[in-house]
Amino acid sequence: MNRRTFLMSMGALALSRLGWARQRQGYLWTDTSLTSGYPYELPDLPYSYDALEPAIDAQTMKVHHQGHHATYVNTLNKALEDLPTFQSLPLETLLANLEKVPTAQRTTIRNHGGGHWNHTFWWKILSPQKQEPSLSLLRRISSEFESWNRFRGQLLDAAAKHFGSGWAWLILTPTGRLRIITTPNQDNPLMPYAEIQGKPVLGIDVWEHAYYLKYQNRRAEYLSALWEHINWAQVEALLE
Ligand SMILES: [Fe+2]
Repeated sequence: MNRRTFLMSMGALALSRLGWARQRQGYLWTDTSLTSGYPYELPDLPYSYDALEPAIDAQTMKVHHQGHHATYVNTLNKALEDLPTFQSLPLETLLANLEKVPTAQRTTIRNHGGGHWNHTFWWKILSPQKQEPSLSLLRRISSEFESWNRFRGQLLDAAAKHFGSGWAWLILTPTGRLRIITTPNQDNPLMPYAEIQGKPVLGIDVWEHAYYLKYQNRRAEYLSALWEHINWAQVEALLE
């Protein structure tokens, strides 16, 4: 039994002892966890800081990763120090069960656990090379949103109009539908606070820290540039 399998089995045991319904999380994130177990670590980027130039500048990427993301990881670990039962849970399960977390640590784990999960997801959604969606992905998404262009418009419009900090998401719902939602701050669609819970397959960071150095208040311009760097192969893999 390796460390991950051990932690997953301990997490299942902890859930069982606490009487939590786990079946509801089955569709959210299946048999794999996106992050390492506790203590969490800052993952390396799958490309260099300047790989997304000129759409996203190297300084923004470096501060975003070494500054913001690292802080989420460190603060999450600190919040879990005195909560051994919760340390053994996969982060996806912890976020889906935030209402079970003691109130003293709940907001910190919501913000920083969400921050760690969202950014680990985010780095993999970006591609240094421009990608075209496969024909099957294009058909799947177009069938839900009438056309590819309509999907692009709805997603980027939701991202542009989201007030303040947060994320825009494409999610797979429990009934197998695709939906676009936004979440505030570092909330995500795994959490019970989401307007629709589901499995994220695409996320867009609309915090100012993701674009302000280069684009200042021009969020729509950032979103247009970002669209050319979406890793459609990753989106398609997450839909399976
Ligand atoms: Fe961010």
